[in-house]
Formats: sequence, C-alpha cells, structure tokens
Amino acid sequence: MHERITKAVIPAAGLGTRFLPATKAMPKEMLPVVDKPAIQYVVEEAVSAGLVDVLMVTGRNKNALENHFDRVAELEATLKAKGDDAKLMQVNASTGLAAMHYVRQGDPMGLGHAVHRARMHVGNEPFAVLLGDDLIDERDPLLRRMLDEQVARDASIVALLEVDPDQIHLYGAAAVEPTDDPDVVRVTGLVEKPVREAAPSNYAVIGRYVLKPDVFDVLERTAPGRGGEIQLTDALMTMAKDVSGTGGVYGVVFRGRRYDTGDKLEYIKAVVQLAADRDDLGPDLRSWLVEYAVGL
Ligand code: UTP
Repeated sequence: MHERITKAVIPAAGLGTRFLPATKAMPKEMLPVVDKPAIQYVVEEAVSAGLVDVLMVTGRNKNALENHFDRVAELEATLKAKGDDAKLMQVNASTGLAAMHYVRQGDPMGLGHAVHRARMHVGNEPFAVLLGDDLIDERDPLLRRMLDEQVARDASIVALLEVDPDQIHLYGAAAVEPTDDPDVVRVTGLVEKPVREAAPSNYAVIGRYVLKPDVFDVLERTAPGRGGEIQLTDALMTMAKDVSGTGGVYGVVFRGRRYDTGDKLEYIKAVVQLAADRDDLGPDLRSWLVEYAVGL
C-alpha cells in the first residue's frame, strides 16, 4: 500500500573516521560483510521493499561504490569463458539490482546536508533514507512497515531501537508518546547523542527513515549543530513539533537484528553472526567458534 514511494536515498559520503585506517582510501560502506560490501545489503533491502530508484550520496573515493553497481565486462567475459556460472551470478547480482543514481556531497557537512543533496532527484514526494553502514537483517523486515506507516499517517517516520541506557550517547534519542499501536510511537522531541542523564528515553534513532519532502525546506533552515554538522536529527526535531503542518514524526519500534558496520567491534560481530547463519560457512565456523571460546 505504498505505491507512491519508489525512491531511496543512501548517504555514503561520511569520512568513516571510526574505521581508520581501513577507510583512508575506501568508503566504509564498501567494507565486506562476509563476502558482500555492506552497501549491497542496503541496496538489496531497498529493492526488496519496492524502492527501485536509488540515489547514492557519495564523497571522496566514490569510484569503488559506483563500480560495484556497474558492469565489469572483462571479469564477466573471463568467468563466462571458464564456464563459472556461479561466480558470474555473484558478479552480476549487484549490477541490475536497481536504477542507480549518484550525487556528490562535496564537503561532508553532516547527514542532514547529505540528505539535502537529494532534493533535485527526489522532487516533491515522500522518500526513504537508508544509512549505508547500518544493516537490518533481511529476516526482520522494517522498511516495508515504515513505508506503510508513512502512507497511513501522512507523516515522516523514523526507526527506533530500544538500547541499553549506557549506549544512548552514541545515537539520536527520541522523546515519545504511545499511540494505540504498540509498535508505533509519536515522536515529540529528539536529542543528538545525549549524555545518559539528558536522554529523553532509551529509544535510539537508527539508520532508516521515510521522510516527507518538507524535510528539504526544514534542512535549508537548519543551522549547523553538534560537531559543526547539519544534523538530520535537528531537522526532524523541527518536524516533530509540527508547527508548519508537516504531519509530525512517528517512530516504528524495531525489535529485530541490526548491525552497525561503521564501528569496529560491531562490524566484527556482524561478520561473525551473518557467517555463522550461512549454510556454506556456518557449520565449520560455529564449531570453530565453540573451540576458540573454550580456549579464551
Ligand atoms: P556517521 O556519523 O556514522 O558517518 O554517519 P561518518 O562521519 O562517516 O563516521 P565516523 O563517525 O567518522 O566514523 C552516518 C551515515 O551518514 C553518512 C555516512 O556515510 C554514514 O552512512 N554521512 C555522514 C554522509 O553521507 N555525509 C556526511 O557529511 C556525514
């Protein structure tokens, strides 16, 4: 029931400083999670929710991202000549996935600034934003639910995850009011990376949004906030107050599996968990993990 929404915006222009030196010459979104770059999981998620028009916001080192979703004729020809159909399929999987578009951010002036770069492409329709380093397990679909809520409520939608209060300083935290749906809350306020004592709740905003195009005007008026960056959280805070009749902001509470591949420890956990669940790698990895853990 969300025929109107077809566009996904994926900001992937951050500096990835938490993952240096790996991200010195490569975007963190290209780090392999088992055997696929993180960004491919994210594009696959968008496509499986029906978003077949993908705009990626890129920064320096954009070539690796663009190349990954493009054809590599030489590699295809070699694999074809060898008759290696399995590998050929793997190579082609990312090529025809979606209609891919790219826009440069220039200076990485914050997530809000990156989203604003999508204005020309998106136009005047609701759209999804998926952060390129935030993976949602395909077994726990979230985006489709958010798209449905956007249509039903004619509001902007964020994804919320209940985190340990000790972790809330790593996220945007939401002040919320219940609705008559236990999985949906109304967002009344947002604070970017608050200290534990200042957090309005332990509901953390995670990297999926379905936004009304009003966000672009709001972002234009949003001054640089925390870290001197234009924060999407600050624009959403304005929209949550709904002074200009943009429908407000609602949160879909996510209770599934999520992996933050922009953080070293979380990245390692993601690779291990996803590999352990795979039919080809899981059995050997799981038995090795048990042996290894005993020796720790
Ligand atoms: P992060 O804050 O996780 O990205 O932004 P970062 O700044 O690259 O990471 P660290 O903290 O230095 O390690 C969340 C998402 O927004 C994108 C990032 O690429 C990431 O997917 N982003 C962030 C932009 O596209 N542009 C920006 O200016 C900032």
